[in-house]
Amino acid sequence: MKYSNTIQFKMAIAISISFLLSNCTVSKRTNEPLGLKESYKNSFLIGAALNGAQIDETDPIVAKTITHEFSAITPENVMKAEIIHPGWDIYNFNYADKLVALGKKYQIAVNGHTLIWHSQLPEFAKRINNSDSLRYYFENHIKTLASRYDGKIASWDVVNEALNEDGSLRNTIFLQKLGPNYIVEAFRLAQKAAPNTELYYNDFNIENPQKRAGAIDMIKKIQAAGVRIDGVGIQGHWQVNKVPFNNIEESIIAFSKLGLKVMFTELDITVLPNPWDSNTADVNMKAENNAYFNPYTSGIPDSIQQIFTKTYIDLFALFLKHKKEVTRVTFWGVNDHQSWLNDWPIKGRTNYPLLFDRNSKPKDTYYNILDLPKQIQ
Ligand code: G3I
Repeated sequence: MKYSNTIQFKMAIAISISFLLSNCTVSKRTNEPLGLKESYKNSFLIGAALNGAQIDETDPIVAKTITHEFSAITPENVMKAEIIHPGWDIYNFNYADKLVALGKKYQIAVNGHTLIWHSQLPEFAKRINNSDSLRYYFENHIKTLASRYDGKIASWDVVNEALNEDGSLRNTIFLQKLGPNYIVEAFRLAQKAAPNTELYYNDFNIENPQKRAGAIDMIKKIQAAGVRIDGVGIQGHWQVNKVPFNNIEESIIAFSKLGLKVMFTELDITVLPNPWDSNTADVNMKAENNAYFNPYTSGIPDSIQQIFTKTYIDLFALFLKHKKEVTRVTFWGVNDHQSWLNDWPIKGRTNYPLLFDRNSKPKDTYYNILDLPKQIQ
């Protein structure tokens, strides 16, 4: 649904509030010694994506939040090809190594993100125009990274975002130059180089039936080739009024029936109006800023905050219902200040998608999520 004017958007919010008031109790609290990782330790790992400053532990409050709350970490950018592999035989392991050391120091599981993705490629790789050279890049990249961190990181997002919304293969440089079998080959190379690391496919919107069917086909092809795939990551970039709960539950069941672990790998919930109809995390889609699309520059209204909290409660209740299948839930960032959603799909907005505010202070939402495992056991 697209709100063509402010009145329509406000009406939609009002309807949601009345639903909320009749269905939900949202508790408020301030001090809580228990962290999320402790509260969810019998259910699934709780993770966060970290940026460079967070890996450096520059801000003590954020550093404390990370070690107290999270049992898993994913690099938001530093293991992506443009940063870690800037030239043909040039690798820059600096921040990736620091991230792995951080995980070891605090016993936090590290998920490598990501080996093969068409986005954030280094300039030299974008310019490759023959198949042999791209194959050299592809093999060298996977072998070098997967072997370096084998057994030191818990898992790799081996292939990221390879599907279109209709479930067909996205027309990336890898598809064009290596052919449709490149995904099986990526997993085969990763399996060989990293026998002690779990291997995942990761994408957004694969909870939606058409795209999910494409993901299932792809996974079956990997399995039929006798190649290991351990799990599937549903990213979870959703909008507050449009979380597809039924599709999410059906997907947990469908993917786990393939023998895979299911993870929610990049969770955040935008509260801002979206210029497009669909949930997407396609970083190439961008729009212009204006006051209508950036309504909460000086704070989020209580009414919206309550809907946001209720949405997170419903989501985590669903994850807990499927705690046998769901192995990790990772937020895409530690706090609202860091979130990519301040700059996408429109640059320079003020968004509020996570459990910790701009100062890393836990929101009421956080306390509700913290308590949930006790309440529904
Ligand atoms: O590193 C440059 C820096 O040198 C430069 O000064 C600065 C100026 O804008 O840009 C920096 O690069 C930015 C990079 O993040 C590192 O901060 C890019 O502009 C910016 O586009 C990039 O955004 C990242 C985005 O992936 C790019 O694809 C986001 O931080 C990151 O959260 C986002 O993460 C992706 C997942 O990997 C895959 N799934 C979707 C998710 C959200 O898009």
